[in-house]
Amino acid sequence: MRLARSISELRSLRASLPEPVGFVPTMGSLHEGHLSLVRCSHQECASTAASIFVNPTQFAPSEDLSAYPRDLDRDLSMLEKAGANLVFAPVSDGEMYPPGYATWVTVSGITERLEGASRPTHFRGVTTVVAKLFSLVRPQRAYFGQKDAQQALVIDRLIADLDFDIELVVAPTVREPDGLAMSSRNTYLSPAERRAAPVLRRALDLAESLWRDGERSAEEIRSRVTALLRAEPLARVDYASVADPGTLEELETISPRALVSLAVRIGKTRLIDNTVLPPGSPLLERRTSCS
Ligand code: PAJ
Repeated sequence: MRLARSISELRSLRASLPEPVGFVPTMGSLHEGHLSLVRCSHQECASTAASIFVNPTQFAPSEDLSAYPRDLDRDLSMLEKAGANLVFAPVSDGEMYPPGYATWVTVSGITERLEGASRPTHFRGVTTVVAKLFSLVRPQRAYFGQKDAQQALVIDRLIADLDFDIELVVAPTVREPDGLAMSSRNTYLSPAERRAAPVLRRALDLAESLWRDGERSAEEIRSRVTALLRAEPLARVDYASVADPGTLEELETISPRALVSLAVRIGKTRLIDNTVLPPGSPLLERRTSCS
């Protein structure tokens, strides 16, 4: 596995990668969720590139940029074991955003809802850095997690609208044994908060079982899910959404599919999770996961 710390090193190492190249962008602090994407790429592609960059432009001033966990040596050894061939870990923020940097990529519409409503500049940062990474790495496939379903939908739009010749693969959410979706931010939880956090998975299970029992009213599912979340004293609900998976507009009736997404604060930590109804359906209507 080779490590590039600058754009010029990345360009020269990329030139010798066998194609097709699969690409897994990350912010480091890796866990099994990230590694499942690397393994998926390793299975499907001749070579796999990953990036580790805590992208400052997707954090609001009030958010956890400086506290975001970082451990490059640990991340590199995990990536190597999972099958990565090249890792781009820019040595500084200035490598990606040098003085005078002035170009932004924005996707409108779906970025204004859910996470975008709560975090107004977040997706502009994500789409800008991902567009830059796509241009630098020039992968044939890019691997994203369903854990961040809205992000995957925004990247799907970005790829289509900017004519990137890249196949987007969305891989299933990897969970802890008690159902909590793996996230670098789980390390912020106190022991009591950690015990409360699986309430998100229980709320998604409730949505799935209501759907299986024939419930098709989105409002009924939203209100039952919200009530379950509110019953957890450590949880504060940011949103509980039952939306069209294409437009992210809130639904009245589920017909035929819905994306149920949650954002919940447990103490100071904001956790997100989601599921697609009917249970088990893919987020994107084409091939979306490694199997
Ligand atoms: P990060 O939060 O590090 O996540 C990198 C990738 O791992 C994303 O595609 C995310 O959806 C996926 N992922 C995270 N937790 C997962 C889980 N439990 N199961 C499956 N996949 C999971 O998302 C970002 O970084 C950034 O926004 C980035 C795209 C790198 C741009 O800066």
